[in-house]
Amino acid sequence: MGQTLCICSRGSITIDNKRYYFIQKLDEGGFSYVDLVEGVQDGRFYALKRILCHDREGRQEAQTEVEMHRLFSHPNILGLAGHTFIERGGKSEAWILLPYVQKGSLWSVLEKLRDKGSFMPERRILKVLQGICSGLKAMHDRGYAHRDLKPTNVLLEVDDRPLLMDLGSMNRSRMEVKGTREAMTVQDWAAQRCTISYRAPELFNVESHCVIDDRTDIWSLGCVLYSMMFLEGPYDMVFQKGDSVALAVQNPVTIPQPCRSVSPLASQLVVTLQSITLSAFKASRLECIDSK
Ligand SMILES: Nc1ncnc2c1ncn2[C@@H]1O[C@H](COP(=O)(O)OP(=O)(O)O)[C@@H](O)[C@H]1O
Ligand SMILES: [Mg+2]
Repeated sequence: MGQTLCICSRGSITIDNKRYYFIQKLDEGGFSYVDLVEGVQDGRFYALKRILCHDREGRQEAQTEVEMHRLFSHPNILGLAGHTFIERGGKSEAWILLPYVQKGSLWSVLEKLRDKGSFMPERRILKVLQGICSGLKAMHDRGYAHRDLKPTNVLLEVDDRPLLMDLGSMNRSRMEVKGTREAMTVQDWAAQRCTISYRAPELFNVESHCVIDDRTDIWSLGCVLYSMMFLEGPYDMVFQKGDSVALAVQNPVTIPQPCRSVSPLASQLVVTLQSITLSAFKASRLECIDSK
């Protein structure tokens, strides 16, 4: 990307020698702010994600997020338009410039449907699901896992093409855990980086000797499919009520009845996705018991 330079003056910023005007705030998270900006030269809109890096580790994580975007050129993975690191008041900020997707996140689309008392037709669900699967497959084929797949981390283009984004939790898909210490490290990492209501069972209580792989994404994929079908994730209520998600994920998922928006086929798909991951999880536990 060459030399990066950033000057903040008169409401404009510079990244990779290109100037952008601030337009408005888009979103604010725990450690990041997302703003809508407009390219002065090209007149295009971009989302500028600013991540506060508290220490060197935080900076490294932001750098990894940038590298993950660069690694893929795929119709279902959000690309990168530029990046820079800036130092302000002794703190470091990573600025990640992304193409702006006007329709916003899959979650915002689901929320609008819920507000209208509407639902997502099954054809549309399957189209979006197919795109998400395609993006995920590209990641898995290269040996990476997303680790934080959920409806707020999927953007939808106007034609409903989904784009996987927020690559800040991505890492190598195969994580070999050897010993209690490593298990605790992985578990603590998951507690911070993998959203609880979409987190796979094997990440709640990481076994001392086991392998965590890309199947954690398949679990989250099942939860995303469910959220498109019922306009909320399968464990959102459990979490909101303050009940244990770790416990809830051990039991078969419940499909609300009656449900007008989906056919038994789609419901079966959710149950199948969940049972694939649950059985993979149980198998990895058995392997781990065998090897002791
Ligand atoms: N390129 C983009 N186009 C449109 N909206 C975006 C874009 N990038 C982020 N957003 C919005 O900002 C939110 C937070 O971005 P995200 O990268 O997920 O940050 P965080 O790591 O804080 O979760 C997204 O859920 C989405 O609503
Ligand atoms: Mg996010």
